[in-house]
Amino acid sequence: MVQKADTILYLPAHQVRSLVAQIDAVAVIEETLMHFAVDDAGLAPETALRWTAADGTMARSLVLPAWDGQHYGCKIINSCIGNHTRGIPRAQGLIILHDPDTAAPICIMEGALISALRTAAVSIAALRACGRLDHVRTAAVLGCGKQGRTHIELLAASSPRLSRLLLFDQDVNSIQDLVVYCARHYGSLEVQTTLGAEQAVRGADLTIAVTTTTTPYVPLEWTKPGSTFLNVSLDDAQASLLLGADHLFVDDWDLITSDQHRILGALARADRVTGPAEIMKHDARRVDADLPTLVSGRYNRPIEGHHRVVVNPFGMGVHDIALAARVYRAAENQSAGLQLER
Ligand SMILES: NC(=O)c1ccc[n+]([C@@H]2O[C@H](COP(=O)([O-])OP(=O)(O)OC[C@H]3O[C@@H](n4cnc5c(N)ncnc54)[C@H](O)[C@@H]3O)[C@@H](O)[C@H]2O)c1
Repeated sequence: MVQKADTILYLPAHQVRSLVAQIDAVAVIEETLMHFAVDDAGLAPETALRWTAADGTMARSLVLPAWDGQHYGCKIINSCIGNHTRGIPRAQGLIILHDPDTAAPICIMEGALISALRTAAVSIAALRACGRLDHVRTAAVLGCGKQGRTHIELLAASSPRLSRLLLFDQDVNSIQDLVVYCARHYGSLEVQTTLGAEQAVRGADLTIAVTTTTTPYVPLEWTKPGSTFLNVSLDDAQASLLLGADHLFVDDWDLITSDQHRILGALARADRVTGPAEIMKHDARRVDADLPTLVSGRYNRPIEGHHRVVVNPFGMGVHDIALAARVYRAAENQSAGLQLER
């Protein structure tokens, strides 16, 4: 089936869920990072609209345009911290795909599900590229929301030695929900809750930071030699950890330095961190590589067993577009979705 010129295909969440379940998300992310490394995929600058909701909580709308091969599109991902008390997800969004020839939008799909999945899949791809995926036994999860759960799902499916989870969240109910979920789906894993983030990080060989903090609180000294820290929520690692890790990887340096809100960009503006391809500034620490370089096997410095690794993935819209394009193709093949009149 080819999309008709007078309609747009709409894919609601339940259809995106069943279609994306047929796709190996980590393989798509790895492929996309390799496309990106050779300019077969790319991004346009991301933009953000931020405001304060009536209840005083922060709301934002991020717009991420990107392309992967012949697929062009845009993710809109919105979030409001106050949604927690409204009993609805913090983040919600849409992905729009464009016709490569006419530029007309051809498909709109629910986007939060792909957004969560691609973020966890980037984490798994980074762990694998560092040679760390097969060695994770104990993983700490800081933040027991949507990302925490999605990361556990992908990690449990791809990390053969994973045997223990250490969970921490500032909200007791979120921890309890995730404990129950893990018991139901991953009964063979030992699941332990911790009294604080420090206990979780100190006990783990992998930490996944997926909170909503804007105040960094994890210092270098909490992390074990040989551990990996995934700074997914971008403001959990303190400067000592970002500056002191043996290897520091980012997904895209331009995205990090264009942003005015996160700690790694602030360290770059203060000349304390230099990008992977930039001329070294005096006294700065260099970002060792970006993920396209790492995943395509072009990072040459050995990652030794005792090294501390930090990955700071800002979030590349190209992954959402790559996954959404495959979901769209599957929808076309299976005649799924709702045709909307233009
Ligand atoms: N880097 C990326 O590519 C990327 C992509 C998507 C989401 N994110 C980020 O991941 C984070 C989590 O997203 P989510 O959808 O799971 O959100 P969520 O609201 O579902 O879950 C966040 C959880 O973190 C907890 N939390 C907040 N501050 C905490 C703290 N200081 N210590 C412990 N727990 C804390 C909350 O109680 C909540 O349970 C967000 O910050 C989001 O912006 C990053």
